[in-house]
Amino acid sequence: MSEGRSAHVLAAVCLIWQVALMTATGSKLWEVPTTSSSFMESLQWQPHCHYRHHQERVKITAEIPPRLDGTWLSTRCEVRPGPEFLTRSYTFHPTRHFQALQHYYADSRCENPTYSLAIRGKLRLRQASWITRGATEADHHLSGVTIVVHSLAAKQKLNSRLAPSCVGPSLARLVPGKPQDLYNTRAGRECLSALGFSMMELDLVRVETQHHNHGEKLQELFLGDIHTDWTQRTHYRPTGYQQPLQSALHHIHPCPACAVVYRSTEQRPPAMPRQTQAPISLAGRWSSQQCETRPTILFLTREFHFDPDQQAWEGIYRHYSDPLCSQNTFTLRASGHYAQGNPSVKVPGATEFVFKVTEVRVTAEDESTAKLLNRTKPGKCGQAGEWKVREEQALSSTHGCTVLGLKLPHKEYELLKVELDHRGHPLLYVGERPTDGSSPDRPMRRATSFQAPLMLCSDAETQPSSHYGLGFKSKQVQTKTSGTGSLTPCLLMVLGSALCSWSCVF
Ligand SMILES: *[C@@H]1O[C@H](CO)[C@@H](O)[C@H](O)[C@H]1NC(C)=O
Repeated sequence: MSEGRSAHVLAAVCLIWQVALMTATGSKLWEVPTTSSSFMESLQWQPHCHYRHHQERVKITAEIPPRLDGTWLSTRCEVRPGPEFLTRSYTFHPTRHFQALQHYYADSRCENPTYSLAIRGKLRLRQASWITRGATEADHHLSGVTIVVHSLAAKQKLNSRLAPSCVGPSLARLVPGKPQDLYNTRAGRECLSALGFSMMELDLVRVETQHHNHGEKLQELFLGDIHTDWTQRTHYRPTGYQQPLQSALHHIHPCPACAVVYRSTEQRPPAMPRQTQAPISLAGRWSSQQCETRPTILFLTREFHFDPDQQAWEGIYRHYSDPLCSQNTFTLRASGHYAQGNPSVKVPGATEFVFKVTEVRVTAEDESTAKLLNRTKPGKCGQAGEWKVREEQALSSTHGCTVLGLKLPHKEYELLKVELDHRGHPLLYVGERPTDGSSPDRPMRRATSFQAPLMLCSDAETQPSSHYGLGFKSKQVQTKTSGTGSLTPCLLMVLGSALCSWSCVF
């Protein structure tokens, strides 16, 4: 889609802008790191709404380049756009060789495996990403892909999917339980593309380490996102992330899924322990558990309130210029009504919803955003000339905001599911935004996969809604960064260009 392309062109423009900025100021904001240079980010944060004890502080570090050695595991049944249901176990060796196991399933609980792929290759880390701050770009090279089907039914289904472009003699000989080469250095890639297979996710990597109070460590591997449009996924260069894999050594305990995924082989796919599906009840306040990344430059945290009696909702989207979500640029507060639809046929366990946005309130959190909004023409974005830092403006009088790409009222077709985590705490999954920056404003554009889950805030932490908005402090942040510059000018360019569509800010 052209919007997606524009985003990339913009990203390139941003790059030039930054270089110019660095030259102008003579500062080394962001030297393109070589693989030997590294910087550490560290952060102590205490999410305002967190089911762990309030006093607990978690420090997050992310090294560039990241250390990938070791095995990284899915912690639950993953859903990719399509939908595809899978679990993953990736092992990286100090020699740069990797072995990636992907197990695919017929069902949304990952109980009924259809086939597994064993992928071998080499990964070369290149440089820090200019587009996705905090990420490292990499190049992967595949040396082989082996497939094992797990039942006759799965074989038949695969055969019909792979024909006619993948006609190697191998497929006819697929026997359940027996490894068969799908790709090697001598064979072409027809079979891989017929499967919609790609390892482009390896081209954008980030490792985060969370240091918890009692010396416990959690390590997560973030790999590039999968394009929501099936036709784009094999050549899309990721700029956002999928849900992270956790280190086999340093993961959250208990993790029943980790053990079975760790022990799996291509011939012995893991059957996932039952996730407790909770009946969909949205009542209450839900909050992001970490700083989230969207394809092309955006970092944000989300918070939702639902009032089922009034069928009313409010979403607070806090936008930041850095991957630790410490430099707030602007905040959006959207509200309206919602209606629950049918259980999803495509993604069993999830439910369809329609959301209507009738009001959006915007707060410029820094000087440059305030200036930018202040320069908009009268009637285009709130009260022109009245924008001030940390003062909220409603956009309904101008039916949205052209420069932010917001049109009011607005309707979206959503996919939601509620699951319980390993501690029995409810998690809300909201549908993934289309990667091309468009909006799911038609039923056919409804998501088939999800964003990072939101956590239900306990009643004790719930504040009266009058406390929301301006003075809300979701985190106590102390950052200690070196080598990072501000991307704010770029973000503003993106906003200022009016190319940013609805979902760029949502
Ligand atoms: C916004 O514009 C008004 C009128 O032009 C001006 O007085 C004010 O200082 C501007 N505010 C900011 C934050 O730029």
